[in-house]
Amino acid sequence: MSVSKGVDSRFMEELKQKNNIAEVAASYISLDRKGGNYWACCPFHHERTPSFAINEAEQFYHCFGCGESGDVVKFVKEIESTDFMGAVRILAARAKMEVPESNFDSEKSLQMKKKRDTLAAIMLDSAKFYLQNLYGGDERATAHLQYLSNRGLAPTTIKKFGLGASLDFYGLADYLTGKGYRREDLLDSGVLAESKTGKLIDALGGRLIFPIINALDEVVAFGGRALEKTDFAKYKNTKETLLFNKSKTLYNVNLLKKLKREQPIKEVIIVEGYMDTISLYQAGFRNVVASMGTSLTKDQARLVKRYSENVLISYDGDFAGQKADLRGLEILKDENLRVKVVPMPDGQDPDDVARQGAAAYQACLDKAMPLIDYKLHAIERKYDLSKTDERRAFLAEALTVVNSADNESLKEELLKKLREKTGISYHSLERDLQTLSKEDKPKVAEPVQKPAELKAGDRIIKAERFILAAKLFSAPCAKGFDLEEIDFSDQIHQMIATYVKDREKKGERIRPSELFEVLDENCPQFNAILDVNYGDKLADSVAPKFFADSVNVLRRETLNRKINVLCARQAAEEDEERKKAIVKEISYCIAARNRLKK
Ligand code: UTP
Ligand code: MN
Repeated sequence: MSVSKGVDSRFMEELKQKNNIAEVAASYISLDRKGGNYWACCPFHHERTPSFAINEAEQFYHCFGCGESGDVVKFVKEIESTDFMGAVRILAARAKMEVPESNFDSEKSLQMKKKRDTLAAIMLDSAKFYLQNLYGGDERATAHLQYLSNRGLAPTTIKKFGLGASLDFYGLADYLTGKGYRREDLLDSGVLAESKTGKLIDALGGRLIFPIINALDEVVAFGGRALEKTDFAKYKNTKETLLFNKSKTLYNVNLLKKLKREQPIKEVIIVEGYMDTISLYQAGFRNVVASMGTSLTKDQARLVKRYSENVLISYDGDFAGQKADLRGLEILKDENLRVKVVPMPDGQDPDDVARQGAAAYQACLDKAMPLIDYKLHAIERKYDLSKTDERRAFLAEALTVVNSADNESLKEELLKKLREKTGISYHSLERDLQTLSKEDKPKVAEPVQKPAELKAGDRIIKAERFILAAKLFSAPCAKGFDLEEIDFSDQIHQMIATYVKDREKKGERIRPSELFEVLDENCPQFNAILDVNYGDKLADSVAPKFFADSVNVLRRETLNRKINVLCARQAAEEDEERKKAIVKEISYCIAARNRLKK
């Protein structure tokens, strides 16, 4: 365990020593001390009663609700939605430690880090350049300033979002080359592009600039809006880079994070565009982020979840017609976020409404409705219910939506609404729905399984888990037992056993948290072993019996496997003498297995 994902192990050890997981976690979530552990509601899945535990002595967390577990580095990685190195950097800053470049063992990760730093520096310098353009008194910036004021943005708002101006195609290129950046890095950052003649040009030349800033306050990309109607795209973004992955980014997440430090966030409003975000923020709705035009991704859903479990979707009035967007909303639901949709007046977006004043937008928020109701509302808007044929078409569509409701009481409630809207009796609607459910039932083939075999497998896995948990947490019942005699059926179990044996041989302390460094993230086998520990099963008075039983199960399993191998060998053996020897060995094994039964 000398290397952990390319970072020097001594550095990692010190980093973890200086960042007590309980203290780090307490800066994000509120912890309750109970028994030897700290408890909280899990920040990684939705729950009302705490099942997220922090083991301070062993320096790891485990949620036996969702099964997530890890050490302090993984905690920060998850809660900050960053990668391993991002988490290392945050923890290093917290402990006032320098991340030692020379200590990166992997040449490749060192190069990546350098590249990333260079790109980040280019982005920051570009942001400064664009800002200077806007405020520097150049007369070409008048159009940009005028545009912003026409759109109702106050100077403080413009500053808050770091908006800037590109005045032409060459200014930025000259400025950045003058600072000594290499052509290759400039192109890789996305702020510059190559013209047909091979010259470096501003990728967003002439546009109004919206810096896109991540949760760590780094400028990762820019959006640029054309000031006038053009044949080109109204908005253009700098390309995806080492720093910028559009599907993992939400515009304004940086200010959302600051807001969360000030106060709990009841709900996050998700809008589509830059201007929607800025207008709402200015109108006092600071809990807003933008998906930047595309339909939402799983990563964005997880990012939002760090800030709140309630999401209000506030898209343009006509978005419901687009299937992709509704799919985006299903993604939010899959991440266990509670989703409501804010209905907008026809043809208006949140920016338009917010410009009429905070009260106008608040009125829309007050009408927010659950996704399923919104779907019905959107379908209804397509039809004229006073016409018989349109009413029928509406019902056909609406009933498929009702059918997708997760529970019967909701279905009943929705059917009642349909009755109000169409005047058709509840009874008929219910019958139509039933016909529909029958047609819809997916025909799933029965899984082909041999139940008896599966059960035996289960027992073995459970026994392996118990033994490993007992060893890892130095339970008294496991004292003196040598793992050597067991052949673990699961590869990960075998790996964990090897770790334990190695530590025992060297007479070193066994630290379960060390395994987070070698095992894959969210390793289900390891999580299941940690569950055993939390169930208090190891401290229970029946633990010794459990342990002995588990050992017995595995000894028998080891013998069974050995017998099978020997039988096969015996059958294939042609030499009579050797055949006899094998048979003898088999009978020893069978005798040993019989002794186990007692
Ligand atoms: P919209 O076209 O709805 O624009 O795009 P908008 O935000 O209402 O723009 P204004 O009010 O006319 O200025 C919504 C968002 O989609 C992204 C941008 O983030 C934009 O704010 N987008 C749109 C792009 O990235 N590229 C495009 O070509 C269009
Ligand atoms: Mn708009």
